[in-house]
Amino acid sequence: MTISYSLADFNKALSSLPNDCTTGFVPTMGALHQGHISLVKQALTKTSTVVVSVFVNPTQFNNPNDLAKYPRSVEEDCRLLEEAGASIVFVPSVEDIYPAPDTRTFDLGGLDQTGEGPKRPGHFNGVAQVVTRLFDIVKPKYAFFGEKDFQQLAIIRHFTKELGYPVQIVACPTLREADGLAMSSRNLLLTSQHRAAAPAIYKALSEAGERAAQILHNGSSKKNINITPQELIQQATASIEKGGLLKVEYIEIVNSVNLKLISNWDEADGIQMCAAVYAGEVRLIDNIKLK
Ligand code: PAF
Repeated sequence: MTISYSLADFNKALSSLPNDCTTGFVPTMGALHQGHISLVKQALTKTSTVVVSVFVNPTQFNNPNDLAKYPRSVEEDCRLLEEAGASIVFVPSVEDIYPAPDTRTFDLGGLDQTGEGPKRPGHFNGVAQVVTRLFDIVKPKYAFFGEKDFQQLAIIRHFTKELGYPVQIVACPTLREADGLAMSSRNLLLTSQHRAAAPAIYKALSEAGERAAQILHNGSSKKNINITPQELIQQATASIEKGGLLKVEYIEIVNSVNLKLISNWDEADGIQMCAAVYAGEVRLIDNIKLK
């Protein structure tokens, strides 16, 4: 495995690969966990050349404190990546990625109007800046993203297509801890109390998923099991906040294609429930497919 700490080194490593080799790409911000490793494993099912970038992208943080506190562990990341079978790890500097301030604004197809969009102004534009820049550098055939960041995945698919990048976006399932908590680099920042409370998020989403399945399979006109999306959100919020340690920032039920809020179950063929929850100072997100 080659580790490139600069763009120049990375370009050298890339040019030493055979011309006809197809590259699978896993962009990350480091502090890797088994969720990231599962992306690498998935990439290895498509190609033996897997490039992983480790770059904490400043332009996607709307909160400077969040950027400063973001966990960093490059050495351990490289150890895990070598073990997983990655070919090249790219650890660029901010200057490598942004030789000049990036002033590009992207058409995000309105997919940033709900969920994380209004809560983190500029976040998805920053993601588009870094992902397009990395696509230009790495020139992958495949790129792998986790479904935990459901909205990010939809937005990346959108601009990749709009801008004509010849990159196939591959969605990878969310990996969870044994107690259901979605794996995230931010889990490292949780106090032991908040870590113990955090599985309530997925528990509430799963319960909502079960209720939605009853409604959708039995027909929403059936008595007792009829519940509106808004009521399901209220139940999930109450269940998450019950223990007093977690605070829901939002729970939304959206059309899984255009990410618009839905107010009844017949409004969309695919429906997703998405949540952002504060566990103390740490903001966690998760989502579940309802339909
Ligand atoms: O999902 C992430 O870790 C980041 O948003 C990404 C895609 C690596 C861009 O910085």
